Amino acid sequence: MTDEDALPAAPDPAAMRKHYRTEGLSETELAATPVEQFARWFRQAATEGRLFEPNAMVVSTADAAGRPSSRTVLLKHFDDTGFVFYTNYDSPKARDLAANPYVSLLFPWYPMARQVIVTGVARRTGRDETAAYFRSRPHGSRLGAWASAQSTVIATRADLDAAYAGLAARYPEGEQVPVPPNWGGFRVAPQSVEFWQGRENRLHDRLRYVARPDGGWRVERLSP
Ligand SMILES: Cc1cc2nc3c(=O)[nH]c(=O)nc-3n(C[C@H](O)[C@H](O)[C@H](O)COP(=O)(O)O)c2cc1C
Repeated sequence: MTDEDALPAAPDPAAMRKHYRTEGLSETELAATPVEQFARWFRQAATEGRLFEPNAMVVSTADAAGRPSSRTVLLKHFDDTGFVFYTNYDSPKARDLAANPYVSLLFPWYPMARQVIVTGVARRTGRDETAAYFRSRPHGSRLGAWASAQSTVIATRADLDAAYAGLAARYPEGEQVPVPPNWGGFRVAPQSVEFWQGRENRLHDRLRYVARPDGGWRVERLSP
């Protein structure tokens, strides 16, 4: 028997029920564009949301054979052109996006009974934009990007620490760290953005912006 076995039984998720807030989301209060509406909710998530990392989002990709996978990344920029995150271009997610650029981003803002779901198309950011962001990162994170061949199998933790130590010796604090050639951003240009607000009795508000061919947006209400 391990210490873990002595712990109380895990709670039953089927018995977990929260009553959601009554303030809803209406068509009349919605911003003209999904990015403006996202900015409003993101500001609230960052200030009132009691969220540890409101810019954490789940990115789902599918490979050329249609097999899906999901992981969390951090949103680093957003504007009318899209939502930007940074990663390793040799990683499984980047390989998926090279074969199939369709992507879904999900912001799970559970403490606010909200979620935002973006679907769209991912393109690599330009090298200048990537370099500008890379230089804004802390020194240790810049070295970390070099030290890790993301998602490849490694023998031990010590190998990773040794790779980092070698880089730290080569590029001490204050020294310019070059941008790794296999590291950079993806910008997800949205095709649809759904704002989901939990309401009482499971009668949630769901308003989805859908891109129109003329560059504008249509808003539709979805049944909860
Ligand atoms: C809160 C959080 C933030 C993360 N942010 C990033 C990120 O910005 N970029 C990144 O490449 N991986 C990030 N990761 C790690 C990814 O979830 C994932 O493990 C990694 O990118 C490899 O994914 P892949 O093998 O599916 O390509 C983050 C993980 C967590 C839990």
